[in-house]
Amino acid sequence: MTALHYRQPEESDHIRVVEAIPVWWEMPPEAAPIGLLPRLFFQHFANTSVLVEDEGGRLVAFLIGFRSASRPETAYIHFVGVAPEQQRQGLARDLYGRFFAMMRGRGCTRVDAITGPINRRSQSFHRALGFAQAGDTEVDGVLAYLDYDGPGQHRVTFTRAL
Ligand SMILES: CC(C)(COP(=O)(O)OP(=O)(O)OC[C@H]1O[C@@H](n2cnc3c(N)ncnc32)[C@H](O)[C@@H]1OP(=O)(O)O)[C@@H](O)C(=O)NCCC(=O)NCCS
Repeated sequence: MTALHYRQPEESDHIRVVEAIPVWWEMPPEAAPIGLLPRLFFQHFANTSVLVEDEGGRLVAFLIGFRSASRPETAYIHFVGVAPEQQRQGLARDLYGRFFAMMRGRGCTRVDAITGPINRRSQSFHRALGFAQAGDTEVDGVLAYLDYDGPGQHRVTFTRAL
């Protein structure tokens, strides 16, 4: 079992994370959700985000999250990813646990996240961590909010008390 190193991401990590997304999400680059993770998250949300590397410095996981600027009782997890060979070992659960503790310490009482209707892995993961999943219209076999993020951009929402 390799030792893992947790640290805050730096702006220069952005390219590595973006390059990992098509591989980790198992999608062709043109379909992968790279555009959802612009560089600004590594500039302005680094101190509430985490990046995990193995002993060789290889990227194995990341969590991009923050405390809401306009709803200070709410923490928000924007993106999480774990390298395929490290999945199902509790790494994302651990990253979420650390984020929950940090946000509780800042006074947050709830945490929110969203995903796409087709991302069943993300839905199973969030439900396993105690998130309530919501939507109001069946899309691809699950309840989602239609056009939540724009035309055709349907989303499933998650919320959990902290
Ligand atoms: C979703 C993801 C982050 C989960 O990471 P992980 O480190 O494998 O998750 P964990 O090992 O902490 O899993 C915790 C629990 O979530 C559930 N879970 C996780 N992956 C699951 C899967 N593929 N299918 C069903 N349940 C799953 C299980 O209940 C699991 O507990 P268990 O292994 O004891 O049964 C990972 O699969 C991933 O990076 N996927 C690609 C990127 C993505 O879709 N990110 C989320 C959208 S932003």
